[in-house]
Amino acid sequence: MQQVLTYREIGPDEFAYITGVLHRETGIRLSAGKEALVAGRLDKRLRHLGLADFPEYVRFLRTQPVSGPEMIQLINLLTTNETFFFREQQHFDFLRDVVVPDRERGRALRLWSAASSTGEEAYTAAMVLSESLAEQSWEIVGTDISSRVVENARLGIYPITAANKIPRPMLRKYWLRGREEYDGTMAVNRRLRARVNFHQDNLMAQLGHHGRFDVIMLRNVMIYFDPETKRDLVLRLQEMLHPGGYLIVGRSESLNGIPSGLQMIEPSIYRTPGQRRG
Ligand SMILES: C[S@@+](CC[C@H](N)C(=O)[O-])C[C@H]1O[C@@H](n2cnc3c(N)ncnc32)[C@H](O)[C@@H]1O
Repeated sequence: MQQVLTYREIGPDEFAYITGVLHRETGIRLSAGKEALVAGRLDKRLRHLGLADFPEYVRFLRTQPVSGPEMIQLINLLTTNETFFFREQQHFDFLRDVVVPDRERGRALRLWSAASSTGEEAYTAAMVLSESLAEQSWEIVGTDISSRVVENARLGIYPITAANKIPRPMLRKYWLRGREEYDGTMAVNRRLRARVNFHQDNLMAQLGHHGRFDVIMLRNVMIYFDPETKRDLVLRLQEMLHPGGYLIVGRSESLNGIPSGLQMIEPSIYRTPGQRRG
């Protein structure tokens, strides 16, 4: 039986143009073989714009400003935002067992979730820091290129099924169960919410305005970048770490081949040289 396509097919020229725009704007490289993914994710957008096919969409894109609203839509649709609470738990254990006890006293501990998606990574870190540091001075910044996921992260509302990943005592302490129209959801409480600030930001841009951090979590995003982009990013981010600060990448990622000066503490956890004053 012939397969029925539920979305418009994309030709090689249109695929090359769209993935070229994506790469230029985000550093994300979608290689040949991802045609169905791109066509599937953009199909709704074409419908919404009343465009018949991909050549028409590309003609339209060519008229749009670089980094303008249509580019934001494109990025929102083509980024992969999968994440969940306590993903790669070992990193959060490391935070609790090594980073917190070893922190520099006398100033706020700062952690950056640098591709925060819908916020689960940042709120997980917030729960862990809150358990260890309570009312002491600490803060979390979350950034992502997708405006859609940043809005969700700011809201801090998740399907109740996400609760399965959160230990019960933390669930009781930091989350509220939705009622009436919010039935089936849970929301982060105000005290934890106040510790986390989300911004839409592109890792390819200048990021120095976020200040320096003790920990940068850059997890499960470099897999989408080519080696040159990855190298450039790591070199820039290490400049944003305090001496003795940590860069944490996804457990399936590594900094092999990047001459960064960072020292591997254990697989996926790297540290800048320099001593902390305890
Ligand atoms: C798979 S999610 C990872 C989320 C989280 N760090 C985790 O490990 O669960 C990757 C995120 O990276 C974001 N991203 C991709 N390219 C980016 C860029 N150039 N700047 C900022 N964020 C980017 C995507 O929008 C997506 O939300």
